[in-house]
Amino acid sequence: MRIRRGAAGDLPSILAAERACFSRDLAFPEEVVSSLLGQAATFVAEDGEIAGFVMGFLEGGWGKVVTLDVLPEKRGCGVARRLVAALEEDLASRGAGAVGLEVAVDNLGAISLYSRLGYRKAARLGSYYGPGKDALLMTKELR
Ligand SMILES: CC(C)(COP(=O)(O)OP(=O)(O)OC[C@H]1O[C@@H](n2cnc3c(N)ncnc32)[C@H](O)[C@@H]1OP(=O)(O)O)[C@@H](O)C(=O)NCCC(=O)NCCS
Repeated sequence: MRIRRGAAGDLPSILAAERACFSRDLAFPEEVVSSLLGQAATFVAEDGEIAGFVMGFLEGGWGKVVTLDVLPEKRGCGVARRLVAALEEDLASRGAGAVGLEVAVDNLGAISLYSRLGYRKAARLGSYYGPGKDALLMTKELR
């Protein structure tokens, strides 16, 4: 499995992964994914085909993980761990002292993953994903 920076030509594979990982109401639409691919730091995991990706950006000294997807058949092998590490390294190299992210309170798998990677629950964000759909803000110091 190779981790590399995402490129414009990865858009179809990234979109397919986003649709495989999130329900229609939660998946980012194509125009948002396309715009993020042009502006955010994107890393993809590839073993012949794209197995997953992560997108994030730097904002005022803080890094932010925007989205992280690993195809269902590629999970449980450390792909997400490697993708997040690549993004954190990139953000730190550009001055981020910490990283934050939002995750749905009922996404227990992702909350477990981020906890294993050193992220801590910082706040609960009421109705962040729509009425009654709360999120957790999780943060991690990078130094
Ligand atoms: C969450 C997700 C990214 C995990 O990807 P993955 O490649 O299977 O994760 P990894 O194999 O790198 O796991 C890294 C660590 O997190 C833990 N972890 C990962 N998924 C887990 C789960 N569903 N339940 C419990 N722990 C989990 C692993 O046990 C592992 O811990 P360890 O290395 O200390 O043993 C993947 O399930 C996914 O794409 N889910 C749908 C999209 C999503 O929810 N994205 C996050 C949105 S904020």
